[in-house]
Amino acid sequence: MMKEIKNSVLVMLTVIMTFVSITGCGQAVKENDAVEEESDAIQIGFSMDSFLIERWQRDRDIFVSKAQELGAEVNVQNANGEVSRQISQIEYFIEKDMDVIVIVAIDGGALSEVVEKAKKAGIRVIAYDRLILDADVDLYISFDNEKVGTLMGECLREALGDEGEIICINGSPTDNNVTLVFGGFQKALQGSDIDIDRTGYADHWLAEIGFEFVSEYLAEGKVPDAIMCGNDDIASQVVKALSENRLAGQIYVTGQDADLAACQRIVEGTQYMTVYKPLELLAQRAAEMAVAMAKGEMPETESVLNDGTYDVPFEKLDPVAVTKENMDEVIIGKYHQKNEVYLNVQGQE
Ligand code: BGC
Repeated sequence: MMKEIKNSVLVMLTVIMTFVSITGCGQAVKENDAVEEESDAIQIGFSMDSFLIERWQRDRDIFVSKAQELGAEVNVQNANGEVSRQISQIEYFIEKDMDVIVIVAIDGGALSEVVEKAKKAGIRVIAYDRLILDADVDLYISFDNEKVGTLMGECLREALGDEGEIICINGSPTDNNVTLVFGGFQKALQGSDIDIDRTGYADHWLAEIGFEFVSEYLAEGKVPDAIMCGNDDIASQVVKALSENRLAGQIYVTGQDADLAACQRIVEGTQYMTVYKPLELLAQRAAEMAVAMAKGEMPETESVLNDGTYDVPFEKLDPVAVTKENMDEVIIGKYHQKNEVYLNVQGQE
């Protein structure tokens, strides 16, 4: 009996492993190149920054499943935050003569050469979520990142009654979204009496830098009225620093991504707001557009954005501010489940 169970477990494992290597859902290079070369299916190469932040696994899963549904094969590569590795991955995709290369750029300013190489080889290039600068990509698809910052600024203006002293800890300075978000945030504060006392950046989006930034500020004996955080992961470390100083819940903290832990903090009262970006829309639309481009069509976009040198077609999606007030309406059942979000405040929802 035991032997039979063992055998069937083994068979199941083999089936699962074969499936993973065929679909390329894993992060490694597909081992069986022969299958890839013989296939007539559209080939999409997807080079991602890393999977450390919660959202990117969803981006990958939705993109891959939509592309597969449309008959394409996707080879997903994880650059693990290393620019040189990302460049090698794109070069590998060029060698493999992919139809379309989709990139979540680690450093928006470091890919123009390799993108040019891909374009010269007749491969379409899509900048996914983050713009690639001076590269004339065929398509940039993302949320309105300036609006992400505007929403943070508007929420803080309302919470603070238009005055106060705040500090800002942005994300990676090599991510063009950071420039856009911070630009939108500063614009939104114009005309108010809110002063930004200090601004920092979390290199490589390392949230621990947010912890140090806030701890150092508090150690100087200063207490800000609010802390603008580049994303929810940074906010998690900022709230940790506030907790250690018995200040959690007393200072308005912003973020973006609607990570589960951030939504929990919002209903618990230690984070004021986040910005929800419906990844389903982004990833599905990107997959549809990638497949259309592989077929030689160029889908229309309503916007363009200048990449520093060229105006590139921009498929722009709308982000939504989330506070305790609209958590149920915007997030529950759509992005996270109610029992997960309210896990630590049972009975209070
Ligand atoms: C994205 C954020 C994300 C961050 C870190 C940014 O480019 O817009 O949603 O949290 O990268 O991965």
